[in-house]
Amino acid sequence: MKTVYSINDTRDYIRRARAQGRSIAFVPTMGNLHDGHLSLVKKAKELADEVVVSIYVNQLQFGPNEDYDSYPRTFEEDQALLEALDVQLVFAPSSHEIYPEGAEHHTVVRVDALDGMHCGKSRPGFFTGIATVVTKLFNIVQPDYAVFGEKDFQQLCIIRKMVNDLMLPVEIIGAPIARAENGLALSSRNGYLSAEEKQTASTLYQTLSAARESIIAGDRNYDALHRDAFVKLARAGFKPDYFNIVSRHTLQPATLADKELVILAAAALGRARLIDNIQIDL
Ligand code: PAJ
Repeated sequence: MKTVYSINDTRDYIRRARAQGRSIAFVPTMGNLHDGHLSLVKKAKELADEVVVSIYVNQLQFGPNEDYDSYPRTFEEDQALLEALDVQLVFAPSSHEIYPEGAEHHTVVRVDALDGMHCGKSRPGFFTGIATVVTKLFNIVQPDYAVFGEKDFQQLCIIRKMVNDLMLPVEIIGAPIARAENGLALSSRNGYLSAEEKQTASTLYQTLSAARESIIAGDRNYDALHRDAFVKLARAGFKPDYFNIVSRHTLQPATLADKELVILAAAALGRARLIDNIQIDL
């Protein structure tokens, strides 16, 4: 495994791999890797000859009062995990490499259609930060495939839309949510939770699962399901942000005609803002 820090070194590596006719799968991350990230890497290995993983905490996707400074950075451990999976290349740029003139004076990529709702509503600029950095990373790595987790469902939809709208030559692959035994979706931000909060945190998944069961059993009163979920989460100690039953394709509120749904949820627990989702096929 090779670790590079500059765009030039990454491009050199990619050029050489291409010259040998090797295909490339890419997994962008912000590091502090857990089994969720590693499941994407394993998927990438099935797809292509070379797996490239980026580790970069992207300042542009953090709001002014968010956890950019305290976001967990565990570069050594991350490298060991990737080495054990036989990843070929790790790209770990500095902020200066990605935003040489500073993140605030920069051309951005904004995916209007799916911004402004769910996480985009609570975190203005969040998805523009993501779409911008992912475009840059795609242009640096130029992969055949890029693997993203369904854990960040809206992010995955936005990346798909961006790739489609801008005709980027990369195939986006979604990978299922990796969960702890109690159902809690794995996340770097789970490290902000105490042992007790980690138990409580599984209520988010339980609430999603219960709503899914009700819908599958025929309950179509989405407003009432939304209200019940908020009450349940608040009672467990969360500050719920949203719990939206939406079409999987448009991310707009589900209508009775929609058969492929997803429930998107976000809630704060202690210091952590947790997101999760569950898909439903009717
Ligand atoms: P990060 O939160 O590090 O996540 C990197 C990738 O891992 C994303 O595609 C995310 O959906 C996936 N992932 C995280 N937890 C997962 C889980 N429990 N199961 C399956 N996949 C999981 O998402 C980002 O970084 C950034 O926004 C990034 C795309 C790197 C742009 O900066």
